[in-house]
Amino acid sequence: MAEHIRVLLSEEEVDRRIQEIGEQISRDYAGKKVHLVCVLKGGSFFMCELAKRITVPVSLDFMSVSSYGSDTKSSGVVKIVKDLDESLKDKDVLVVEDIVDSGRTLSYLLEMLRDRGPASLRLCTLLDKPDRRVIDVNVDYTGFQIPDEFVVGYGLDYDQMYRNLPYIGVVEFDN
Ligand code: IMP
Ligand code: MG
Repeated sequence: MAEHIRVLLSEEEVDRRIQEIGEQISRDYAGKKVHLVCVLKGGSFFMCELAKRITVPVSLDFMSVSSYGSDTKSSGVVKIVKDLDESLKDKDVLVVEDIVDSGRTLSYLLEMLRDRGPASLRLCTLLDKPDRRVIDVNVDYTGFQIPDEFVVGYGLDYDQMYRNLPYIGVVEFDN
C-alpha cells in the first residue's frame, strides 16, 4: 500500500520549540549538571538537538528497550536491549523520549531507572498523545501535544522508515 506524509509540525516549529525547552531546562538546572538519557532509536534526533541548546553542563547516555507486542501497540513489558553505560547514582537525570503514547513503556522504564538511585529523575518528550494514555506518566517537559494520529519524522518511524524527516508528519495511506 502506498502512503504519503502530511506535515503536522514544520521543521521551523519543531526547532523553535526545542530552543524554548532547552532554555527552560537550562533555567531549571541552573548550578547543576544534567545527565540526559536517550531512549533509542526514536529519541536520538530530539536529544541531539535539545542537548545543543542546553547551557548547563550536559552528559549523555543511551539505552534501547523493546516492548513486547506489535509495533503500534505496546504491552508495557519492557526488555532492555542495550543498557546504559554509566551509573545514574546521585545524578540529575532527564530521560529524553520521542513520544508518550499509552504511557506503558515510560512508566515501566522510569520505575526501573528510579531504582538506580538518581538524585532526581525527570522526563522530557517531544510529543505527547494525551488521548491515548492508559497509564499515568508524569511528563516534566513536553514539546507538543498532538491528536491521536500516527506520526513520523524527527526520530519516529513507520516500519523503520521516515526517522530522518526534519519535521513531524502524519502517515496517510493512498487507496
Ligand atoms: P507507549 O508505551 O504506548 O507510550 O509507547 C511509546 C512508543 O510507541 C514510542 O516510544 C514509539 O516508539 C511508539 N509510538 C507511539 N506512537 C507512535 C507514532 O505515532 N509514531 C511512531 N511511533 C509511535
Ligand atoms: Mg520511543
